[in-house]
Amino acid sequence: MSTLATVPALQPARLEETLRRFAALSEPGPGVSRLAYTRLERQAHDLFASLLADLGIASYTDAAGNTIGELAPDAEPRPGAIGTGSHLDSVPHGGAYDGTVGVVAALAVAAAAGAGRPRHRPWRFVAFAAEEGARFGQACNGSRIVVGLTGAADLRQLTDRTGTTMAAAMTECGLAPERVETARWDPRDWRAFVELHIEQGTVLEHRRVPVGVVDTVSGSTRLRVSLTGVASHTGGTPMENRRDALAAAAECVLDCERLAVAAADVNTRITVGALTVEPGAITIIPGRVVFTVDVRETDYGRQRAAAHAVGQRCRTVAARRGVDVEVEELADTPPVVLSREVAAAARAAATALGLPAEVLASGASHDTQQISRLMPAGIVFVPSRGGLSHSPGEFSTADQIAVGAAVLLETMYRLDATA
Ligand code: GLV
Ligand code: MN
Ligand code: MN
Repeated sequence: MSTLATVPALQPARLEETLRRFAALSEPGPGVSRLAYTRLERQAHDLFASLLADLGIASYTDAAGNTIGELAPDAEPRPGAIGTGSHLDSVPHGGAYDGTVGVVAALAVAAAAGAGRPRHRPWRFVAFAAEEGARFGQACNGSRIVVGLTGAADLRQLTDRTGTTMAAAMTECGLAPERVETARWDPRDWRAFVELHIEQGTVLEHRRVPVGVVDTVSGSTRLRVSLTGVASHTGGTPMENRRDALAAAAECVLDCERLAVAAADVNTRITVGALTVEPGAITIIPGRVVFTVDVRETDYGRQRAAAHAVGQRCRTVAARRGVDVEVEELADTPPVVLSREVAAAARAAATALGLPAEVLASGASHDTQQISRLMPAGIVFVPSRGGLSHSPGEFSTADQIAVGAAVLLETMYRLDATA
């Protein structure tokens, strides 16, 4: 493929080396742990800024922690930037590819963009802050702030499991949560945005297709369910006299799974991902259990109905077992249909490079779904081995990533050339 063969910035070995540098910025333990609004996430943003600086591109970090660099147009300038990028935070013990692949590809595009082919628009390279909802429940924080969906007051409400507010974590990192309104983007300043990401599913691998073009991104409703029973002696308390919060939670968890399996649509996905048991000792009947539920759907009506059904099932189980229940909604993001124009540009880019592309939905959230509120926006996927993600086993080959970066570059040029 000509673009891959001739552009040094898109060489697989170079991309792999940059990925390795980001992966080294991790807490100890399996996989990559670089949580939202931590010292390590900031170090990754600093590395991004210094790699842009090596290319002669100045960047800044906004009040929300997003880092943005810009390359000026080099011929017949037109207003309205073309942007690309992704996020640098991870889930606990996640992989080295989720988000980082899109940032590394943005750096490769930035390096390749000077190579003789004229650009008429500014090109912007973005590392979004705090995309993962793993720490604070709310996903896509940096991108929600730039589109105006999250404001300073919201940052004081969101807490992690230790009770630290997002605002406090941001301040601790040297950011300015009280001034995040200054990070808003003006849509008149932009033309289009395109993000490269790993698929986090098996469609491309199963169909042996190197490039995915996303048409829809699933929404996500996130719940916290608290069950309160009675803690008591495991030996002394007869089975018929118990109000066991964990036994109730176990039924609720299985009901969540049943609801998703029985749903008419394969894109209905319901997961209990975190559960705490108190007091948590071998000789005590569990008195209190708190667990999270993540409801993902490509249709907002079905998403809301599924989240409602989860709450109903939990209340029914709790009532039957004499356990108190509270269901709180932590976050609610609707599904998004992405730009047909950007998708068409990505498909045309793949075709121009001689690559088959598959149109598919994304089950995972992405910053671009927020950015699409402001401008035409799209996502290009590369295959994920075994579909694994949010796991140390996450993997895409350097060749697959290089192919994705080449498609990204060609898509950027095609968007650059639009009126
Ligand atoms: C982001 O990775 C998500 O949780 O979908
Ligand atoms: Mn991601
Ligand atoms: Mn993720």
